[in-house]
Amino acid sequence: MIQAPRGTFDILPESAQQRKLVEAEAERILGAAGYQRIETPTFEATDLFARGVGETTDIVQKEMYTFDDGGGRSLTLRPEGTAPVCRAYLEHGMRKLAQPVKLWYLGPFFRAEAPQRGRYRQFWQVGAEAIGSDAPETDAELIVLLADLLDAVGVRQTRLRLSSLGTPATRVEYREELKAYLHSHEDELAEEVRNRIDLNPMRAFDSGDAGTQAVMRDAPKLLDRLHPDDAEHFARVRALLDDAGLRYELDGTLVRGMDYYTRTVFEFTSDELGAQSGVGGGGRYDGLIELLDGPPTPASGWAAGVERMLLAARELPHAPALVDLYIALASGDGARTAFELAVEARRAGLQAQLELAGRSLKGQLKHADRIGARYVAIVGDNGVVTLRDMQAGEQQDTELENVIPAILRAERTP
Ligand code: HAM
Repeated sequence: MIQAPRGTFDILPESAQQRKLVEAEAERILGAAGYQRIETPTFEATDLFARGVGETTDIVQKEMYTFDDGGGRSLTLRPEGTAPVCRAYLEHGMRKLAQPVKLWYLGPFFRAEAPQRGRYRQFWQVGAEAIGSDAPETDAELIVLLADLLDAVGVRQTRLRLSSLGTPATRVEYREELKAYLHSHEDELAEEVRNRIDLNPMRAFDSGDAGTQAVMRDAPKLLDRLHPDDAEHFARVRALLDDAGLRYELDGTLVRGMDYYTRTVFEFTSDELGAQSGVGGGGRYDGLIELLDGPPTPASGWAAGVERMLLAARELPHAPALVDLYIALASGDGARTAFELAVEARRAGLQAQLELAGRSLKGQLKHADRIGARYVAIVGDNGVVTLRDMQAGEQQDTELENVIPAILRAERTP
């Protein structure tokens, strides 16, 4: 039997309902703050991600689904949404609009990662981007909106980690300083850390080794090396979050998987999630639009994984589907009448379902009860319809033309 590819999944009706809730809440919360929906294609020129996300990132090096379109052009299934939204911003001249341009999206993304709980090869993200503002208020607004969305969806045990990366120049200088510091303490470090000083000095902060941890307590911190403008920007973001009553942990070792970040970065995790604990994250990316050949344009945003949100959420109540009217057949002869009645009932705004499985009359009534039908119309051979009120357990014969008006009348009188 052919199965869904590894790392992918089907969205069955029950989870489709939960996802609808995430979408509705995103629409409500982001819409209220002036974010408008955008959707970009699921594939883009490979170069967009190579340049935008960064040649040396894991995403670009190992996780992209890249293919030739048959005409020698390299395309890639989008691994993330920020570079595509920036591409669209430039392509459609959105810098002529009032700034910042606030956009949100919800759709599938693709990364060739090793599948595990909460990590898939096709997953959904809801994301928000505010392009054209360098105000710390933009960052704080975005963070509060994501906190509100996670809350509205019922995500439990969330924690917010917050940091600032400053400018790329600050980071280069800092990296050199950290490398020098680590080299000067080489003999106190765990072997795996020692071997990776030049490749990935930041890793040393995550080491579980006691000796390494002792060395790292006195290591230089990026947050202490920020340029005064960046430090002031970050202080402002923190003050705004304090005012909004949002709790966060300052984490100078927070690393994100894309190269485009500058200044503010953040990540929400949930203790419900185990290893893949990141529910949503983002930050400021003031250099990205320029990297994509646009004018210097500050911007900020985030994305959250829909599957991880639902995994970390308490059971969501799912409303039973509404069925106002079930149309049953006393015998095969009424089939055309029944079909017409179903069409008209739906056009009149009723939720109507028609017997389609050739059940006996008894079986049909049982089925109508099981799906929670409010009324059942039993279509007889002679055009007479028996209308049964499933709640009251009463029924009466009526003309075909009367069925829909009778239900509408009953619905209107409480
Ligand atoms: P990201 O942290 O790579 O950021 O992804 C955002 C969220 O997508 C993660 O927190 C996680 O919930 C979900 N996610 C990522 N990979 C997977 C996967 N393989 N399976 C399931 N869920 C996954 C970005 O993508 C940035 N574009 C966010 C951003 C927007 N930064 C600025 N603007």
